[in-house]
Amino acid sequence: MTAAATSATGPAAARVICVSGGSSGIGAALVAAFLAAGDRVYSFGRSPADRTAARHPQAVARGDLQVLVGDVTDAAFRGALAQRIDADCGRLDCLINNAGVIRGGGTLEESVEDWRATLETNLIAPFALTQACAPLLRRSAAPVVINISSACAQHPFATCTSTCYSVSKAGLDMLTRRLALGLGPEGIRVNGVAPGVVPSPMWGDEAGLIAGIVERRHVLKQQTVEPQDVARAVRFLASDQARLITGTILNVDAGYTLG
Ligand SMILES: NC(=O)c1ccc[n+]([C@@H]2O[C@H](COP(=O)([O-])OP(=O)(O)OC[C@H]3O[C@@H](n4cnc5c(N)ncnc54)[C@H](OP(=O)(O)O)[C@@H]3O)[C@@H](O)[C@H]2O)c1
Repeated sequence: MTAAATSATGPAAARVICVSGGSSGIGAALVAAFLAAGDRVYSFGRSPADRTAARHPQAVARGDLQVLVGDVTDAAFRGALAQRIDADCGRLDCLINNAGVIRGGGTLEESVEDWRATLETNLIAPFALTQACAPLLRRSAAPVVINISSACAQHPFATCTSTCYSVSKAGLDMLTRRLALGLGPEGIRVNGVAPGVVPSPMWGDEAGLIAGIVERRHVLKQQTVEPQDVARAVRFLASDQARLITGTILNVDAGYTLG
């Protein structure tokens, strides 16, 4: 594990936030949004830390942003991450399970390896990271877990051609509810945010496909869901304004799932 910054010296009142997959797309917007709110953010992905750190040089210099390099499917990394946050802050206020992959495509055409890799990252890792961070969350005054799901969890859309991806996100929604049920008595809230189609590196060069979905499927006409829209929903669920909201999945999809 490597880090772009090694000390955390943010203000005592700042919340401690951990974003998995903060290196691009929606995760990068989450990192930016929580930093803008004055929080202390731990972000990680497998790619070099420099890319995320370079977007927020002042936050890195202040110690408000810690960028780690690691794979969320690696148990040793998850343990080291929790130890690092513990050593720096002694608690975690909000864990955002955002890291995700899309593989495969089709119905019976997908390989078992596609299924294993997708379920490992999108479903098992959020459970295991929450488990690793639970002792830190228990030390927070207002602990929250937020899982980034997908509209694909709710409908077998033709536009999301990967079956294992849809199944992984459907499982994640049930994980959200199970964790909310199990951890609620300890005061830990657990919610999901389900974006529709969001332009991000996950879509590669499919700008035309996204434009077509926006045109045909969005009930709110001509509205594209941007990573910042997802970040706003996550920040709401992480805030005290949502203090009695747990076990819910908040769709951020311009009405995509209504059709
Ligand atoms: N874009 C959409 O239309 C859309 C819609 C609904 C839901 N979502 C969900 O939103 C989340 C973010 O997706 P995105 O659109 O922002 O895609 P993205 O730009 O491809 O970002 C995915 C992030 O996950 C990280 N990641 C993937 N596997 C990882 C692993 N094993 N360990 C650590 N980090 C890992 C990536 O970092 P590294 O590559 O550096 O590891 C990257 O930061 C995902 O859960 C996705 O399923 C996206």
